[in-house]
Amino acid sequence: MKIAMVGTGYVGLVSGVCFSDFGHDVICVDKDDTKVAALNAGKVPIYEPGLGDLMARNVTAGRLSFTTDLAAAVADADAVFIAVGTPTRRGDGHADLTYVFAAAEDIARAIKGYTVVVTKSTVPVGTNQKVKEVIAATNPDAEFDVASNPEFLREGAAIDDFMRPDRVVVGVENDRAGDVLAEIYRPLFLRDFPIIRTDLQSAEMIKYAANAFLATKITFINEIAALCERVGADVKEVSRGMGLDGRIGNKFLHAGPGYGGSCFPKDTSALARIGQEHAMPMQIVEAVIKVNDTVKRRMVDKVQDLCEGTFNGKVIAVLGVTFKPNTDDMRDAPSLTIVPAMIGNGAKVRVVDPQGRREGEKLLPGVEWVDDPYKAAEGADAVVVLTEWNEFRALDLKRLAAAMKNPRMADLRNIYSRHDVEQAGFQRYIAVGR
Ligand SMILES: NC(=O)c1ccc[n+]([C@@H]2O[C@H](COP(=O)([O-])OP(=O)(O)OC[C@H]3O[C@@H](n4cnc5c(N)ncnc54)[C@H](O)[C@@H]3O)[C@@H](O)[C@H]2O)c1
Repeated sequence: MKIAMVGTGYVGLVSGVCFSDFGHDVICVDKDDTKVAALNAGKVPIYEPGLGDLMARNVTAGRLSFTTDLAAAVADADAVFIAVGTPTRRGDGHADLTYVFAAAEDIARAIKGYTVVVTKSTVPVGTNQKVKEVIAATNPDAEFDVASNPEFLREGAAIDDFMRPDRVVVGVENDRAGDVLAEIYRPLFLRDFPIIRTDLQSAEMIKYAANAFLATKITFINEIAALCERVGADVKEVSRGMGLDGRIGNKFLHAGPGYGGSCFPKDTSALARIGQEHAMPMQIVEAVIKVNDTVKRRMVDKVQDLCEGTFNGKVIAVLGVTFKPNTDDMRDAPSLTIVPAMIGNGAKVRVVDPQGRREGEKLLPGVEWVDDPYKAAEGADAVVVLTEWNEFRALDLKRLAAAMKNPRMADLRNIYSRHDVEQAGFQRYIAVGR
């Protein structure tokens, strides 16, 4: 199959690279010429474990290339995937579909011969129908079908998720388009990964429902964690006890500083808006959005409390600012709420993050970037574990405590035990829900 991938970000690049590894001919298109130049020079513009090697292998094999020339990439393609961003639209919380429709217009002008235009971006129900209308209006002669193929990969484990998915969802209007997608995903089908073929609307809905459910699960345990603190229960024990129940499952059941990232905040917000528009309010999702905000603010209060009730004049070492480990993605990270609140109230903040600095420098003005946790802790009044990078899981706690002015730790990811931290010489240790 010949594939054009429009949009070469976290989803488009991983999908393009993996499709080429399946043996398809893939051209990845992006309008960002700096990104495309980097890719053509063999550099991966994002941090995603394993992506560089897989990309190099498929470029060398001649199956994968990068361009800014959308028309040339689309002309020969059997399928064109739209994997552009769908961020939250300013002001109303809706998904901003500007990039999707702009891409659809460009694709329409370039289509030659039968082509399936597949939306991989996360888009509200009804968007694929609109994409179809946009293409037909832009190029009435185009011979095409649309398809919805939402993506479920997780940053940090994206290649494995793409190559060994729990399921692939394909929404189509007819078998002709469905068969093209079946051919594209054949390597997965042959290995018995479930491929769900459904209609466009259901495919679009599956993605929002899945993300909203996961955000709800996280938020549920975060709210239980807050109550655990009041009643003297330990949320780690509670989530273990809950998660071993096969009907509940232990994933996404870890209390922390609130969900963030490039998907959950914008997708919950978009789903809430879709519900309102259809006079069918998504009350649970609306509550989740509110509670998640409260969770993030609660973290600020907890750290302030740890610092004797005031941030003013305090030096705080923050470990991890990306929204989760193994990514450089800072979009909607809890750190973007928590760190500015500390600085705004007079703290001096030092940040250590293995991959977050490039994005973080723009988003967290006023922090000092430090390469190692022990240096960050020198003379500090508190160390705050905000993202559970492996590098932060086995710190020499004695060394850390000895470097600090006031050895106190806020472990917002529950990666340490109170006993170990206190034994190492910390005066105070706070965690989430314990
Ligand atoms: N990031 C994730 O973990 C994840 C997971 C599942 C689904 N998604 C969804 O996938 C979509 C893409 O997300 P992302 O994180 O990869 O976004 P991203 O911002 O990393 O990448 C989008 C890319 O599209 C390019 N682009 C925009 N308009 C273009 C056009 N007209 N022609 C060519 N290129 C264009 C941009 O330059 C950018 O490089 C979103 O809808 C998102 O919700 C993301």
